[in-house]
Order: sequence, then structure tokens, then C-alpha cells
Amino acid sequence: MGEKHLVSFSMVFLLVAVFISQAQGSALCDEAAFPALCRSTVKGASDPTSALKITIEHLIFETKRAKDSSLKIGSLKSLGVCKQNFDDAVDDLQSSLAYMQKKDIPSLKINLSAALTFYSTCDDAVVESGDQKKASTVLSNDLLLQHLAANCLHLSTLLK
Ligand SMILES: *[C@@H]1O[C@H](CO)[C@@H](O)[C@H](O)[C@H]1NC(C)=O
Repeated sequence: MGEKHLVSFSMVFLLVAVFISQAQGSALCDEAAFPALCRSTVKGASDPTSALKITIEHLIFETKRAKDSSLKIGSLKSLGVCKQNFDDAVDDLQSSLAYMQKKDIPSLKINLSAALTFYSTCDDAVVESGDQKKASTVLSNDLLLQHLAANCLHLSTLLK
């Protein structure tokens, strides 16, 4: 009887702890450019450093996925531009993670802004190609990448 009571008490404690950590995670996202996306990405992260790390890692994953998807669309010259820019964005985001670890926040911010430039360079190339149908797939993938990158920039402003 007493043991059962103890178990349910620790369950309640666990649920409260999870709830509090998620509430903190959302607070980090309150001022983000895309708060709902920010919250679903950082989940229960309670400090800006781990929230940013999770978001950058997720952005790297999504950038690789966008690259694979653009390679499947066909062999337009503009898609080659995108492939190169996706590769550059991944390198750039990996160096962002390294700067974050070294607590070099100015360099981190420079690299995070650069990621946005890589995605928009790809957008410009596919728009100029004039192939509406192929362009729309790339543009919609890029939109998620740009939103995640904007959220990374926001989270980087919370680092101390
Ligand atoms: C990343 O930041 C470093 C340090 O500020 C800079 O030298 C490098 O050019 C940046 N990378 C990009 C792609 O902007």
C-alpha cells in the first residue's frame, strides 16, 4: 500500500518536471520569428545553448534532405547551384556548432546569417531558371530551412 503510494507520487513528480521543462522550452521560443516551429524543434530544452544546438542539428538534417530532394527533381543548371549551396550551408552550420562550443558568439552569428544567404541564393537560381514546377518544390523546401535558420538566429541572441 505504502509502496504503491510512493510510485504514484514519483509519477506525478516526473510529469511536473516534464511540464516545467517544456514550459521553459516554449519561453525560449516566445520571441522567435516562427514560435510554433521553434517549440516543436527544441521540445523540452530548457537552456538556449541546448535549444540552439538541437535546432542547428535539425537544420543540418533538413538541408541534407532538401539537397537529396533537389537532386531527384532533375538536372537543371539552377539545381546544381542549389546542391552547391546546400553543401556550403551544411559546412557553415557545422562551423556554427563549433563556434557555439567555443562560445565565440559573434562568429556564430555571422555563420548563422550566412546560412540564410545560401538558401536564398538557391531560391534565386531556381526562380531565374523559369521552370515554375521544379522551382516550386525547391522553394517550398527552402521555406522550412529559412524558418529554421531564422529561429537559430533568435536563439543565438539568448546566449550569454
Ligand atoms: C563563419 O565565421 C567565420 C568567423 O567569423 C568567418 O571567417 C567565415 O567566413 C564565416 N563563414 C561564412 C560562410 O560566412
